Amino acid sequence: MELANLQELLNSALKDISEAKNSDDINNIRNAYLSKKSALMSMFSLLGKMDPEQRKEAGKEINDVKVAISEKLEEKQKDILAKELEEKLNKEKIDISLPGRDFSLGGKNPFHIIIDEMTDIFLGMGFEVCNGPEVETDNYNFELLNIPRDHPARDMQDTFYIDENTLLRTHTSPVQARTMERKGGKPIKMIAPGKTYRRDDDDATHSHQFAQIEGLVIDKDINIGHLKATLELFARKMFGEGREIRLRSSFFPFTEPSVEVDISCMNCGGKGCSMCKGTGWIEILGGGMVHPNVLKMNGYDPDKYSGFAFGIGIERVAMLRYGIDDIRKFYTNDVRFLHQFKKKI
Ligand code: PHE
Repeated sequence: MELANLQELLNSALKDISEAKNSDDINNIRNAYLSKKSALMSMFSLLGKMDPEQRKEAGKEINDVKVAISEKLEEKQKDILAKELEEKLNKEKIDISLPGRDFSLGGKNPFHIIIDEMTDIFLGMGFEVCNGPEVETDNYNFELLNIPRDHPARDMQDTFYIDENTLLRTHTSPVQARTMERKGGKPIKMIAPGKTYRRDDDDATHSHQFAQIEGLVIDKDINIGHLKATLELFARKMFGEGREIRLRSSFFPFTEPSVEVDISCMNCGGKGCSMCKGTGWIEILGGGMVHPNVLKMNGYDPDKYSGFAFGIGIERVAMLRYGIDDIRKFYTNDVRFLHQFKKKI
């Protein structure tokens, strides 16, 4: 390679650089003109054979060309990178004026919202939460609650039998017996929310599947005043500070005395309206003092211990609370119904 070609080489390099379109072109040009094996670089090896005077001049010329090519190349590379970046940004531009993609989270069924709320109220009073199976034995569902086989109270709770001794529980009261058995004679303060079943002709206020919260307190010197105070506090937390409750005598085989508990109507405040059928009161639960037979059968000495129990209808509370007019809505999964209870995020 002759030095005479230097100018030609420079021209050709500058032409290539000016025609370069992308980073690949830039790299190719750098390889062709500036790599060790390139024509320009191999000219440096000719210098060794020259005399010092010539070498100095030739060295400068070669170096000037090298610098000129490098500078142009660098300049062009900058342009190209800037252009490529701009193209990339344009391509990836997000149109922020478009509405975002909606994503929908599920919400809690009002049935569970109300269970959580009721549970919270009782937890605040120091109750623990207990559970029992929905497929229950005759023994827990009836016998241990003082409802023997031939007892007429069984007719009030006709249910779904799996076999002669196994059934879908008709109330959450079997959890009373199960808890007494588990606690083995020690004090109890528990609630047990859960599903219950009774053979029924479904309509707006009856469902063969429904739910209750059972409550049971056993200790020394428990009296009906404790029951009343507990339920009054519950009613006020659930339905507002102004609520009153009243106890009417009733009958359950596992409590004595037994009561039905009404709360003053949250709609009219007790004056009488269509919601309370003009009475000013709305029934929400059954309860009473635990029957001595039940205490005895489940391992508690009725001379030492006493207790109260109650069972609250969960859907009934939810219906009153939210103004729901048909119990079947809890179980038919109509999204128009369910969406109304969805929390907005
Ligand atoms: N188990 C009763 C029912 O389902 C309610 C109840 C519970 C009554 C506890 C008294 C004590 O009707």
